[in-house]
Amino acid sequence: MKVIAVASQKGGSGKTTLAGHLAVQAEAAGAGPVALVDTDPQGSLSEWWNERESETPLFARTTIDKLQGDIARMAQMGIKLLIIDTPPAITDTIANVIRLSDLLIIPTRPSPHDLRAVGATVELAEGLDTPLVFVVNGATPRARITGEAAIALSQHGTLAPSILHQRVDFAASMIDGRTVMELNASSRSSEEVVKLWDYIRTRIDRPNRGWHDQRSPSMKPQTAYGHSMAQA
Ligand SMILES: Nc1ncnc2c1ncn2[C@@H]1O[C@H](COP(=O)(O)OP(=O)(O)O)[C@@H](O)[C@H]1O
Ligand SMILES: [Mg+2]
Repeated sequence: MKVIAVASQKGGSGKTTLAGHLAVQAEAAGAGPVALVDTDPQGSLSEWWNERESETPLFARTTIDKLQGDIARMAQMGIKLLIIDTPPAITDTIANVIRLSDLLIIPTRPSPHDLRAVGATVELAEGLDTPLVFVVNGATPRARITGEAAIALSQHGTLAPSILHQRVDFAASMIDGRTVMELNASSRSSEEVVKLWDYIRTRIDRPNRGWHDQRSPSMKPQTAYGHSMAQA
């Protein structure tokens, strides 16, 4: 079983949206059974899940004290992927979640304020040796700031080649327990989530390789960053 944590100090960056969407997409793409854990006392992810009609992904109720044991139990039960949502903070609890994870996803909106806030989360992950991936969320089509954000982020770590744009269907879907794919599988939002999961899947299969490392002579150069720029 692989464990993905979604964390960022900044509230509203898209942690809960990404956790839910990636879990549903991973399940749809055959990477399941997928389970979700919500470690945010606000409980947005569990509220979303409670609204869901679909039985998948699973939702695991646990507490921070029991998390490590429950992760082992879920693996034994045959869960293949666990995605853990976290509160917008930098705490020992979040450090613990990141320590137990194979990959950390840090969503960030392409705003100077959000970009400044990623540093603390990055430091936390680096101290724990957990590979990380940035996902730009809430981008405005054709805005120059998206390209600038991509440049700034790429200096701190790997940037996912698929970014999510600001679209009402992302917000709307979360209200009634669905995802953009379940609203309209052929929407542009859905396409972005599909691409994002395809990329994240390659990262958990090869957790210690960022796109920087992937440019070894035996492998094709990754166009990850160029692709983000093209969409920006
Ligand atoms: N790409 C997006 N387009 C439109 N709305 C979004 C997008 N990503 C997130 N939102 C909305 O922004 C708000 C904050 O997102 P959320 O995932 O709850 O962030 P976090 O968990 O990091 O606090 C929510 O209302 C959510 O529906
Ligand atoms: Mg949240």
